[in-house]
Amino acid sequence: MSNYHIKGLEEYYNVYRKSVNKPEEFWAEVADEHFVWRKKWDNVLSWDFEKPEVKWFEGAQLNITENCIDRHLLTNGDKNAIIFEPNDPKEASEHITYHQLSERVNAFANVLKAEGITKGDRVCIYLPMIPELAISVLACARIGAIHSVVFAGFSSSALAMRINDSNCKMVITSDGSYRGAKTIDLKGIVDEALEECSCTTSVLVAKRINSDINMKEGRDKWLQPLLDHAPKQCKAETMDAEDPLFILYTSGSTGMPKGMVHTTAGYMVNTAFTFKNVFQYQNDDVYWCTADIGWITGHSYIVYGPLANGATTLMFEGVPSYPDFGRFWEVIEKHKVNQFYTAPTAIRALAKENLDFVEKYDLSSLKVLGSVGEPINEEAWHWYNDNIGKKKSPIVDTWWQTETGGIMISPIPFATPTKPTYATLPLPGIQPALMDENGKELEGNQVDGRLCIKFPWPSMARTIWGNHQRYKETYFSAYENKYFTGDGALRDEVGYYRITGRVDDVIIVSGHNLGTAPIEDAVNEHPAVAESAIVGFPHDVKGNALYGYVILKETGEGRDHDNLRKEINQIITEHIGPIAKLDKIQFTSGLPKTRSGKIMRRILRKIAGKDTSNLGDTSTLLNPECVEEIMKNAL
Ligand code: WT7
Repeated sequence: MSNYHIKGLEEYYNVYRKSVNKPEEFWAEVADEHFVWRKKWDNVLSWDFEKPEVKWFEGAQLNITENCIDRHLLTNGDKNAIIFEPNDPKEASEHITYHQLSERVNAFANVLKAEGITKGDRVCIYLPMIPELAISVLACARIGAIHSVVFAGFSSSALAMRINDSNCKMVITSDGSYRGAKTIDLKGIVDEALEECSCTTSVLVAKRINSDINMKEGRDKWLQPLLDHAPKQCKAETMDAEDPLFILYTSGSTGMPKGMVHTTAGYMVNTAFTFKNVFQYQNDDVYWCTADIGWITGHSYIVYGPLANGATTLMFEGVPSYPDFGRFWEVIEKHKVNQFYTAPTAIRALAKENLDFVEKYDLSSLKVLGSVGEPINEEAWHWYNDNIGKKKSPIVDTWWQTETGGIMISPIPFATPTKPTYATLPLPGIQPALMDENGKELEGNQVDGRLCIKFPWPSMARTIWGNHQRYKETYFSAYENKYFTGDGALRDEVGYYRITGRVDDVIIVSGHNLGTAPIEDAVNEHPAVAESAIVGFPHDVKGNALYGYVILKETGEGRDHDNLRKEINQIITEHIGPIAKLDKIQFTSGLPKTRSGKIMRRILRKIAGKDTSNLGDTSTLLNPECVEEIMKNAL
């Protein structure tokens, strides 16, 4: 893995220039050296952002698991591929070598086949952060089944919606999960979801918490006995470069989540390339990303990117606060973690705790620190830099999205000088543009605009499952011939980018991407609710929290508002999950609307954020009187 392993700033600029001037040559070189191809490509890239249609490495054939597993067996078979650190520190951690991973993935792949899963079938994976999660993902990829991992914190109706949208034939789950001191009845949630899903005919159940669960005859099977009897070799399916590898749902501006489709070759090439450069992984390092595999960060930088590099990747089942707030630091000391990748919300939560929790542990193994998921504020950046990195480990503030598949804008450690709150420079092959509201590209420095990408990159999502029109409208219609990210950003005098936050109706809460529309839909399900509007407001740990404005059908004085608030949050928990609960709910008699009937969220955001000195232009409001009422009663 030597091609384009960038070690200095000048080298970065040289590689970057080449990647822009000769993108096809550049990506072909990256793809040429690192991977096992069954057949090389005929054409590196064809693209049309109008349709939109993007194809990378067309004509190539491969299997990603041969690159993530088989390829390392000869040279690195006894190296740890996965270190599993359980929720309870008293339970032993598990070390899975590449050999063992190979056997377990192959056995699992054979189980899938025996259950009737074939290439192109969709398999929903709803599992906690246990080894079976990574293994089932890889087993799907081994046989060409398309995995759709649903974060195991989503509710049964959110799960059902995702299963139905992509017609998953099978669900892989566990009896339950541990989360700090709590246990969660995952199988119960699956059972409830499947009442609404006729497409799913089989359920494989991993044993984790040994709870007494219901097994539905003819549908549900315990996983372990099947694995015990399965052969440990399974020929990898030959996949075309553009065959779908997985679907991963992300929220958007309507109630239906978007099933982002990632394909095989481009995704593999780019996640491997970015992992190597952004984390500067070296052969004996232990790398730890604290995300859940249920999110894109886990797909790309717990599973595929690290394993494609033959790295040792740590999977953590637990939470940062259990059994106490020192857990992350304890795990770093215990496994001598070299690269640590986490989210600003976790950093802010831990920075609030006593520094003794940090200082008890030896963090000297750390070399690179990463941040992802939302803008990292200056205070959190410094706390991370001073107390965790001891000012020696560069912080890589990595900007990217579910849709981009891999990291897009980030420092390269030891090459790019870091600057707090700046994601800094685009990685090779990535061509950002800042646009104004009228669709004009902003040139130069110190500008604030909407972040677009003007040239394809290999790991971009190719479509939204079953809805290509929505893909086009969401990402390729706002700006001609450009991919629109939905984020605002500014560029400083040396060309560094700082991501300022979403400019659409998506709110990032504790690093989770939440569309306001699905939450409003849930709130409106309450029989007493006539209408609602949800906005974000700044929160010192979560980054943003949710503020709901709710109009009731009848505004009787006698109503128990606190009870209503509880009921509304209960509905949200059932429809989406606890992460989408509202921190504040204000009942109001009206919502500010334009003459065309659109809610003016800008005003609601200002009121929720206690920033009412200048509400901006309100001349197009149909009902300005309600603004005063809302301001008077603001929470
Ligand atoms: C949105 C994508 C891909 C990682 C996990 C989130 C925000 C992500 C940063 C960063 C500022 C960031 C953006 C982006 N975001 N990383 N380093 N600095 N903002 O994936 O759920 O698809 O969310 O997260 O707003 O659009 P996601």
